[in-house]
Amino acid sequence: MVGAVPRVRVAALMWLRHAYRWMYRTGRTPWDTGVTPPEVVDLIEGPAAIAAGRALDLGCGTGTNVRYLAEHGWEATGVDAVPAAIDRATAKLGGVPKARVLLGDVTDLERLGLAGPFDLVLDIGCFHSIERRRRPAYAAGVVSLTRPGAQLFVFAFARRGALRSLGVTPAEMATRFAPWFDPVGRIRGTRPPGAAWYLLRRVSATPGERQAESRPGSRGATHPPSPAASSSHDSGPHDPGA
Ligand SMILES: C[S@@+](CC[C@H](N)C(=O)[O-])C[C@H]1O[C@@H](n2cnc3c(N)ncnc32)[C@H](O)[C@@H]1O
Repeated sequence: MVGAVPRVRVAALMWLRHAYRWMYRTGRTPWDTGVTPPEVVDLIEGPAAIAAGRALDLGCGTGTNVRYLAEHGWEATGVDAVPAAIDRATAKLGGVPKARVLLGDVTDLERLGLAGPFDLVLDIGCFHSIERRRRPAYAAGVVSLTRPGAQLFVFAFARRGALRSLGVTPAEMATRFAPWFDPVGRIRGTRPPGAAWYLLRRVSATPGERQAESRPGSRGATHPPSPAASSSHDSGPHDPGA
């Protein structure tokens, strides 16, 4: 054992970090279809389409969805940790205005110096592969870069089977970004079993602020607390699954 974590699980996580590089290098990237998923198309173009604004695609891979968003009126930024993916994305985005990709770690967004706020954060298949101990850092980055009302749309595998340390549970998705994001919807995926799309919405005020606002004589808080500051306190994005 390493702490409370079985050795085999640590080895699996270390393996995963290199696995994506290897997969891009060798072309074993089954997710890289070049097609934007219908769930995203529905969010952007469907009957309840959200107004175009600024979008951040975390774990953007080769940039298919960054390009799609930019072509649909969004100012789109993608982040991925694998240089080969970013190189392909850069080529794919050539000439597309308001689209860019950056090489970086989605659990250390602060380091990228991105200017928020974003109106939409998209994550298709990245968050579920983040080590659980790094997920609070991912959540803090998302919170710090989004405005009240922003949407977070995540496609994630279920936590089950061989890689039990990865994946997500509906309970985790409901609480991981709390109290800054409320879960507003879930669409069951078809493959693999248990996979789902999770839609969350950034609240305009945290529960503490709402309480402060309702206190007699209080003028209330006008801004949510800085997540950078909050993440080092108990009220930061918590880790129910770790
Ligand atoms: C399953 S792929 C999906 C790629 C893309 N979203 C798509 O749908 O085509 C997951 C992506 O997340 C990236 N990724 C995983 N962990 C990451 C991290 N910590 N920081 C940035 N990117 C990461 C991988 O390099 C990979 O490109």
